[in-house]
Amino acid sequence: MKIYRTANYEEMSRKAANIIAAQVTLKPDCVLGLATGSTPIGTYKHLIEKYEAGELDFSETVSVNLDEYKGLPKENDQSYDYFMHHNLFNHINMKASYLPDGTKEDGEAECRRYEALIQEQGGVDLQLLGLGHNGHIGFNEPSEIFEKETHCVDLQESTIEANKRFFASADEVPRQAYTMGIKTIMQAKKILLVVSGEDKAETVKKAFFGPVTPKVPASILQLHPDVILVADEAALSAL
Ligand code: GLP
Repeated sequence: MKIYRTANYEEMSRKAANIIAAQVTLKPDCVLGLATGSTPIGTYKHLIEKYEAGELDFSETVSVNLDEYKGLPKENDQSYDYFMHHNLFNHINMKASYLPDGTKEDGEAECRRYEALIQEQGGVDLQLLGLGHNGHIGFNEPSEIFEKETHCVDLQESTIEANKRFFASADEVPRQAYTMGIKTIMQAKKILLVVSGEDKAETVKKAFFGPVTPKVPASILQLHPDVILVADEAALSAL
């Protein structure tokens, strides 16, 4: 694993955007795996700037997102579909972008469809990830086993608590989500994890320097051959 230590969130965002830009420049028809959460917002801002400056072209690039809340329509401003359009897709010329469809009631069918769609794209070249406070990646919550493929998860109380800041109240946070599985994520050729803030420092330590266990889902990344962690000093302060 390569670790880039940055002074702050801004520098973390710039570094992560440069890594994604290099991928798109090297292989314009690549498949980007994208993430939501507050951490990648700065990365997306830098990508938009590069696109607007004429330095980047996404016209051959396809993206697949990690996850989506179950039950939220795309128009809901808390859906990940809305988030991605608002923070990235509306501002660049991505050839095509896909997310799980949160409105599909038949979870098994939707997960199978999405998993097949990712494979049809030829797999993910570069997967961007954030890190949940409980060590989750995508919405792969701490558990007794690593769930392999795209599946429907029951969100943990701690995740509902962490994400309620975006909703009017905790009651409005969906209780379930569709997420790429651990195998789907691990099949990406390259993984780029962005982490910021002291509140994630203990999780970073557990994930990258503790035992590999489904109780800390991100710890599986220790077994991936090409992982880049871009984190600010605060997030690395427990190492
Ligand atoms: C959500 C997303 C994750 C994200 C995590 C951390 O639960 N499903 O993909 O990494 O939140 O979010 P934040 O970056 O806001 O701390």
